[in-house]
Amino acid sequence: MNVQHKTNDLSAFWMPFTANQQFKKNPRIFVGADRMHYITDDGRRVLDGTSGLWCVNAGHCRPKIVEAIQKQAATLDFAGTFQMGHAKAFECASRLVNIAPKGFDHVFFTNSGSESVETALKMALAYHRAKGNATKVRLIGRERGYHGVNFGGMSVGGISNNRKMFGALVSGVDHLRHTHDLSRNAFTRGEPQHGAELADDLERLVALHDASTIAACIVEPVACSTGVLIPPKGYLKRLAAICAKHDILLIFDEVITAFGRLGTPFGADYFDISPDIITTAKGVTNGVIPMGAVFVTSKIHDAFMTGPESMIDFFHGYTYSGHPMACAASIGTLDTYQEEGLLTRAADIAPYWEEQLHALKGMPHVIDIRNIGLIGAIEFEPEPGAPGKRAYERFVKAFESNLLVRQTGDIIAISPPLIISKSEIDQLFEILKKVLKPTN
Ligand SMILES: Cc1ncc(COP(=O)(O)O)c(C=O)c1O
Repeated sequence: MNVQHKTNDLSAFWMPFTANQQFKKNPRIFVGADRMHYITDDGRRVLDGTSGLWCVNAGHCRPKIVEAIQKQAATLDFAGTFQMGHAKAFECASRLVNIAPKGFDHVFFTNSGSESVETALKMALAYHRAKGNATKVRLIGRERGYHGVNFGGMSVGGISNNRKMFGALVSGVDHLRHTHDLSRNAFTRGEPQHGAELADDLERLVALHDASTIAACIVEPVACSTGVLIPPKGYLKRLAAICAKHDILLIFDEVITAFGRLGTPFGADYFDISPDIITTAKGVTNGVIPMGAVFVTSKIHDAFMTGPESMIDFFHGYTYSGHPMACAASIGTLDTYQEEGLLTRAADIAPYWEEQLHALKGMPHVIDIRNIGLIGAIEFEPEPGAPGKRAYERFVKAFESNLLVRQTGDIIAISPPLIISKSEIDQLFEILKKVLKPTN
């Protein structure tokens, strides 16, 4: 056998959500990280304007988390949670429900946001069946929603590029219209004024399919991955009321908005809404170890606990649900969040953030700037015949100027770790200002 050892061969790793051919001609490689910065292979310190991938809420390489996982690896490396248990999983779940919105007393562990979404959708279907409403099988998502890449999440998701290559997807899914309306809401600070009535789109789908066939409606409180779409004032409350009226479970996909991103522990707190299920991942471990957590109210949980005691109540789970390393990382993360007040810090810093962000108004090709909590987005007018090019070029230029931002279509999104200082915010926008100067 001809075994070839290739060191640093970039071709072996088929990178996710990446233009592999382009990237490998001009790679961007990190070798280290420390609090607010990444370190590149050419020794530059790059300000992390995206919390990694919206997950490193407490900043990089935080000691409490590092110590927790080091200790755990040497104590109990793996233990399953099917018909067995280990202390860290119960401790972690208890700690999580303590910071969750009122009524969310139970947590189901997964390994990612995509798995949290699959779990939530299956819970919703099984819940209605357990309650004797077996015809409630349809799932409602929203255009431009992102709920991960597995079949359920992809099906309720509303991003064409993520769907069109993958067949007919899960059947019985429909979508609400998205809420992004620059003609009425461009350059809004915080929640847009116009568009609450778009929630009534759910009534349209109820009229079409009948409520007796609809199990759940899943939305992100703030749709971040699709380019930061902030819900119009009153929209989510109206949606929640329609769900309640028709016994449609409301699933908040808080993979990004949970753990302090909006200045409250969860997005449900920020918008003062009680959904039935909340999906999380990312910030649950500060992004350090893969983990997801699905939060449910007792109404949902208890509906599964009616069978014979010896019967498995939910035929679902992952080998790594509640993995000891992930639980240790999560506990270290929660300690860090709590000691440093990070679950609410974004509320203090958000006004300053908003001010600096909106100062970019008037830069070339910028057609919208929007913000909520410690999230911001800048949208560019697409270059004719080359959608996404303007934002991509600015993303590359930002990286070369020592700032990491996230590009989605013609939108640049920013969401730094919640530990960012005012002077680091200044630095971030100084770089962005230079980057947004005309290149064409
Ligand atoms: C709202 C939402 N749901 C689900 C996911 C998928 O998470 P993962 O990439 O961990 O599977 C994401 C990822 O960004 C997300 O933002």
